[in-house]
Amino acid sequence: MSSPPFRSSPTLLDHLLGAADEALRTLAGAVTAARPTPASDRSVPVSASDRRHAAGLMRVNHTGEICAQALYSGQALVARDGRVRSALQSAAGEERDHLAWCRRRLTELDSRPSLLDPLWYAGSFAWGVTSGLAGDKWSLGFLAETEAQVERHLEGHLDQLPADDDASRAIVEKMREDEVRHGSTGRALGAAELPYPVKRAMQAASRVMTRTAYWV
Ligand SMILES: [Fe+2]
Ligand SMILES: [Fe+2]
Repeated sequence: MSSPPFRSSPTLLDHLLGAADEALRTLAGAVTAARPTPASDRSVPVSASDRRHAAGLMRVNHTGEICAQALYSGQALVARDGRVRSALQSAAGEERDHLAWCRRRLTELDSRPSLLDPLWYAGSFAWGVTSGLAGDKWSLGFLAETEAQVERHLEGHLDQLPADDDASRAIVEKMREDEVRHGSTGRALGAAELPYPVKRAMQAASRVMTRTAYWV
């Protein structure tokens, strides 16, 4: 009878290599959605200026999803509790869908992702690791606050999207629904309320991101 193959548990190096692989796939657009896009067709706004505006908004949303991937990846890397890590990984799976839906929509709108995405990935990954190192309750607090801010931001986009862009609207609506659930999961797992200056710093960073990604 042969003995079972020897299996060692993953080392820090394995986790780091996994995180680097994830970063490269995310930035290269080599991410496939597990769920079909909520958009029922690929039609685009009739007017050229509306198409440009929709592309700017969807580029901002795509960059937001790049940040979400990086944040969850950084947090999962240092999460202490297995339940927290698996909640982060399952939310990251849904964020991958968002990322792929936004990227496809950008192509349909004859546009492209932001050139600054690698910078945003690096910054968000660092925030994820830092909040994770502070402890799971802070990491979850950071997640819950991020999702709350993203929810408000997506609501704004639903108002701003051109009236005849049903496809982008369907994607943003589904993303908002998922983000609300991610926030509730974080709170249910024991998220701490972040100090006000941290919330303000997060809002300021997200303002810089949304204003630059719309154009660049
Ligand atoms: Fe998302
Ligand atoms: Fe989310």
